Amino acid sequence: LGKYPENTIVKRPIVAAHRGVPSLAPENTMAGYRLAYELGADQIETDLQLTKDGHLIIMHDLTVNRTTNGTGAVSDLTFDEIRQLDAGIKYSEEFAGEKVPTFKEFLQEFKGKDVILLVELKGVGIEEQVIREIEEEGMVDQVVLQSFDLGSMIDSFELKPEIPVGYLYSAAVPATTEAKIKNAQKMIDYGTSNNVTLNASYGSTYQEFITYMRQRGMLTMHWTFRGEEPFRDKLAEGLVGPITDYMQWLTDSPIRL
Ligand code: G3P
Ligand code: CA
Repeated sequence: LGKYPENTIVKRPIVAAHRGVPSLAPENTMAGYRLAYELGADQIETDLQLTKDGHLIIMHDLTVNRTTNGTGAVSDLTFDEIRQLDAGIKYSEEFAGEKVPTFKEFLQEFKGKDVILLVELKGVGIEEQVIREIEEEGMVDQVVLQSFDLGSMIDSFELKPEIPVGYLYSAAVPATTEAKIKNAQKMIDYGTSNNVTLNASYGSTYQEFITYMRQRGMLTMHWTFRGEEPFRDKLAEGLVGPITDYMQWLTDSPIRL
C-alpha cells in the first residue's frame, strides 16, 4: 500500500480503455488494445460493425475515412477491401501497417487474460453473430455487451443471459432522470440486477440516477473521460469507473475511497 497505513482500504475504479488508448496509439487497433492491457486496463472497449460481406470488424465511425487511408462506408466495403487499409498511418508513421482488426482477432488476443472486453454493437441486427463468435471462443464470461439501442441489449440478453449487457446514455440526447430510470427499470425487469450495467455519458449523469442504480446493485460506468478530468466526485456519487481515452493516470494515482 505504499504510503498508506496498513489498515487503509485502497480501492480504485474499474477502468475501461476506450477504443484502446487513443491518447497514445491509434484507436481500435491491436497495438492500442495491447497497450491498454499493458497499462492495466480492467476493461477494453471496442466498436463492432458488419462489412458488406458479413464479417464483424472493429471500427467506430460508419466510414473508414477518418481512421484509415481509405474512403467509403464500412457497409459498402468487403472484408478484403477493408483489410488492405492502413489503420495506423494517419495516427503516426510509428503505427504504419496496423490493420483494421476483426472481432475474432480481438477475442483471441485476450482470451483467458485478466481483462474484460467491453464490446459495443454499432447498429442493430448483429447480436446473434456477435454472441456466436463469443461462444465459439468460449469467452461468455469475459465479455460485456453495450449499445445505445435498448432493444438490441434486450435481444442480446434474451439470446444469452449469461453475458452482461449495458445500455448507453448519450449526452447528445439528454434524458431526464425519470426517463433514464424508466429505461433502466426495463433492463432490470429483463434480468437479475447483476446482469446489467448502465453506462452513462459524462454530461448526463445525475446523482439521483446513480443512487437508484446503486441501490439495485447495478454498475454504472461513465463515458468518456478524454483526459485528466477529475472523477473523484463522481466515484463518490456511486460511479464504478471511467470509460477513458487516457490510461496514464491509473499508474499515477491510486484512488482512496
Ligand atoms: O463506451 C461508450 C462510448 O464508447 C460510446 O460512445 O461514440 O465513443 O462509441 P462512442
Ligand atoms: Ca464505443
